[in-house]
Amino acid sequence: MKKRPLVVVTRRLPDAIETRLRELFDTRLNLEDKPLSAEELVEAVRTADVLVPTITDEIDASVVAQAGPNLKLIANFGNGVDNIDVAAAVAKGITVTNTPGVLTEDTADMTMALILAVARRLPEGVRVIPDGDWAGWSPTWMLGRRITGKRLGIVGMGRIGQALARRAKAFGLSIHYHNRRRVPPKIEAELEATYWESLDQMLARMDIVSVNCPHTPATYHLLSARRLKLMRPDAILVNTARGEIIDEGALTKLIESGAIAGAGLDVFEEEPAVNPRLVRLAKQGKVVLLPHMGSATHEGRIAMGEKVIVNIRAFVDGHKPPDRVLPSML
Ligand code: 8YV
Repeated sequence: MKKRPLVVVTRRLPDAIETRLRELFDTRLNLEDKPLSAEELVEAVRTADVLVPTITDEIDASVVAQAGPNLKLIANFGNGVDNIDVAAAVAKGITVTNTPGVLTEDTADMTMALILAVARRLPEGVRVIPDGDWAGWSPTWMLGRRITGKRLGIVGMGRIGQALARRAKAFGLSIHYHNRRRVPPKIEAELEATYWESLDQMLARMDIVSVNCPHTPATYHLLSARRLKLMRPDAILVNTARGEIIDEGALTKLIESGAIAGAGLDVFEEEPAVNPRLVRLAKQGKVVLLPHMGSATHEGRIAMGEKVIVNIRAFVDGHKPPDRVLPSML
């Protein structure tokens, strides 16, 4: 690959990252930050040497098939790569990288914030004073649920799941988890975490369930209608991973009928569209909905951009980029 490849970036990135990209490479940036249309995305893969996409770009097999001969690297600005058909890209000789590790703590913070927001009714509470609705304190008003002493079931005990467990432990929650593989005994001991081989059995016993696994074909609707029905009626469900892991329609119905107490969702199946019935539940204070903000900190987004740059530079210099994603990893 040439020393100054054409790097096409599909969305606006932090200023410091765009400046550095400009210094190092020929760039086509998206200063207006308007998501690319399907045609514009195809044009991008036809002309780029390196593409820097985000979750808002659906790079499926048909887009990969239309890539030009120069496209050799897709350096995703994001950890999850479910927006990219990695197998198709790799089969066409295109390397794919992501940005792991740098958004772990921010996403775990946001997961904890959602747990607290749902359990302690924060969105309902914050509206009261600005809306002029506060008639004064009352012993029986705005009661939420205590989280100390409750059981948290983490679905997916990777970096983010473990970072959540550390926080939750400090809040007095007992830690339970389900994962493809049991984590090393040292980590289990540190987190005082109980492993559940059976997701079904864990779901039936938890007060709070948090989804922290990647979205892959194996985890699509992992929390299916059948599994969601196993949850306790006073349980709450939190998702900062990917909407597709939960059957959102089934979850909505179960909350509407009172079979699940509430949910905190940062991600949705059809982003940016959100099921209007979920929106209604949010207005009733039964669910807390955030617009995919898990990694949204200045520090996190700059660190993600720096990872993208390191991956591109390593590749341009003829090395294997540090954050290569292989189909076998998914
Ligand atoms: C990103 C995310 O903001 O990195 C991920 O997997 O879900 C988010 O934190 C987004 O995906 C950027 O592409």
